[in-house]
Amino acid sequence: MKKQLTQIIVLAGAIFLIATCGRGNFSEKPPIHLNPNMDSQAKYKAQSKSNFFVDSATMRTPVEGTVARGQLREDDAYYHGKDASGEFITSAPMAFSTEMVTRGEERFKIYCAACHGMNADGKGKILFYKYPIPPANFYDERIKKLSDGHMFNAITAGWLNMPSLKAQVSVEDRWAIISYIRSLQKN
Ligand code: HEC
Repeated sequence: MKKQLTQIIVLAGAIFLIATCGRGNFSEKPPIHLNPNMDSQAKYKAQSKSNFFVDSATMRTPVEGTVARGQLREDDAYYHGKDASGEFITSAPMAFSTEMVTRGEERFKIYCAACHGMNADGKGKILFYKYPIPPANFYDERIKKLSDGHMFNAITAGWLNMPSLKAQVSVEDRWAIISYIRSLQKN
């Protein structure tokens, strides 16, 4: 009796396995989708081809002059260091606070010191690697006299042999660095 029961269980188990182990088998039919929600709807996916638009591009270019929310950079002085006539502004469009100077020192040591030196004297590590053009010494009379706008532009666009750092240093941080350099130059 006991032996028969075991046999039945083994047989039932085998049938169950054979019947259910269809995984991995190839089928042309789509899987059964009990609750489709809106999973399968007519829609375009990013970068896909469009049969509707003449240029076949699904992704449309924004209307000319479109500005993303929060990205309107109308303030020339703040975003470009220039006044309405396109000239570099003499002094930054904000008062320098202690927090700005502290932030500027930190950013300077990260992004400028390798070339301009930890002490801002133009003797950065880069000279050790025989950089052919000496980076500016911020205590030079000529550099002291540079306008804030010109400095801002040097960081943003680069200057002669100095690369642009706009990708690394945000607009806010560029002004903070300038506030730090100015605080050094006062001493
Ligand atoms: C890869 C090295 C390098 C880095 C990093 C660098 N600079 Fe320079 N910088 C230079 C060199 C080289 C010059 C001199 C360029 C020349 O006269 O050809 C220079 C010149 C300048 C000048 C003088 C521009 C002028 O009118 O003469 C300013 C201001 C300046 N850098 C600011 C900065 C600030 C601020 C940072 C950090 C955000 C920075 N630089 C990062 C290499 C660098």
